[in-house]
Amino acid sequence: MTIDPLLKQINPPPRLMMGPGPVNADPRVQRAMSADLLGQYDPAMTSYMNEVMELYREIFQTKNHWTFLIDGTSRAAIESSLVSLIEPGDKVLVPVFGRFGHLLTEIASRCGANVISISKEWGRIFEPEEIEAALDQHKPKVLAVCQGDTSTTMNQPLKEIGKLCRERGIFSYVDATASICGNEFLTDEWQIDICTAGLQKCLGGPSGTGPITISDRAAALIQDRWHVEKGIEPAGFVPGKRSRIQSNYFDLAMIMAYWSPQRLNHHTEATSMLYCARECARCILEEGLSNTLLRHRLGSSAMVEGLSTLGLEIFGDQSHKMTNVTGVYIPKQVDGEAVRRDMLHYFGVEIGTSFGPLHGKIWRIGAMGYNARKDAILRTLNALSSCLRLHGYQAPLEDAALAALEVFKNAEGAPSEIEISPVSKTK
Ligand SMILES: Cc1ncc(COP(=O)(O)O)c(C=O)c1O
Repeated sequence: MTIDPLLKQINPPPRLMMGPGPVNADPRVQRAMSADLLGQYDPAMTSYMNEVMELYREIFQTKNHWTFLIDGTSRAAIESSLVSLIEPGDKVLVPVFGRFGHLLTEIASRCGANVISISKEWGRIFEPEEIEAALDQHKPKVLAVCQGDTSTTMNQPLKEIGKLCRERGIFSYVDATASICGNEFLTDEWQIDICTAGLQKCLGGPSGTGPITISDRAAALIQDRWHVEKGIEPAGFVPGKRSRIQSNYFDLAMIMAYWSPQRLNHHTEATSMLYCARECARCILEEGLSNTLLRHRLGSSAMVEGLSTLGLEIFGDQSHKMTNVTGVYIPKQVDGEAVRRDMLHYFGVEIGTSFGPLHGKIWRIGAMGYNARKDAILRTLNALSSCLRLHGYQAPLEDAALAALEVFKNAEGAPSEIEISPVSKTK
């Protein structure tokens, strides 16, 4: 008897996902996602919502009350931030150093902003003085910038940027989807107004919900745009003075009311994704955020050492490379797509291609979240080494995985430099 393929149970092939994200989710996160569902206003559910707010204050290193989740992929959190901050005609400055800067430009212009973008060659970052000069020249209402742009593997330094904006009364928005928990991000210390994240990179989960944190001053602006859809207006409802937010689903003023004791009936919170986000944050805080950052940093050094031992050239400005993803030039002698295909086919290992000006020039190899592990990195290097040889590349005799292993061994017992103190507990 033949079985209709549509009626077969889903059974994905085992993969080790070592691209720029998504990556394999931590098994603890997958277990949390299979927990029993709860009603939207069940006290157990609302107390999980409150716990998520508290856990993500630590992840974002902030005391911001308004720290919660936007249902949808990371892009949903980006879009809700921009559509809720921007009123048509507002000036928005976007420093573009890769594909995700272009995404911010695109979303801001759909919100009706007058967008000014400044650009950098892919593989470089902006110096703070360059952003400062652009802020002074254009005097925007909002600065929107990406921290880690996975398309180029570069990590934009932000230490001074939030402060420069604050001093000028400008709102700062940062997309840290791909960088948070693998690269330091200090919301309060850097005075960032809104930051959004994603689970499918260094947080070790699947995509599907976007953590967000909002400063009090940005929350005040958003609450001034408070308009409630008909039929659910609370008693004594008075609309905000400013213009209504142009999206219903991404209306942060209404979503904030849903995440407040008021529990305004906006969307139906995605229960399993809430469990998932809670477990991602819990696992990291159990490990210790500073240890998670160090694990990513060590993985990066080992990956770079292994790739260099293979005789490959690393892409971009090395002093500003994201820890969790490495760009590497594809050797001229090989067909990059054929190598990727064979790594997946024979070894079950996925690495990333690239887009735009880097298409066909570099691979992007990640080691992040649950996959920022010694065994995952060594297996990836072995698979790449074999597939390169299979495709006629004359690799040096030295073993790439052993060179990477040496980096791990040398780090054993080494003192850590990153120290992060729990933020919300110090309130
Ligand atoms: C820096 C950055 N921003 C935004 C996104 C979009 O995330 P999503 O696909 O979850 O919407 C990604 C995804 O790779 C990303 O790397």
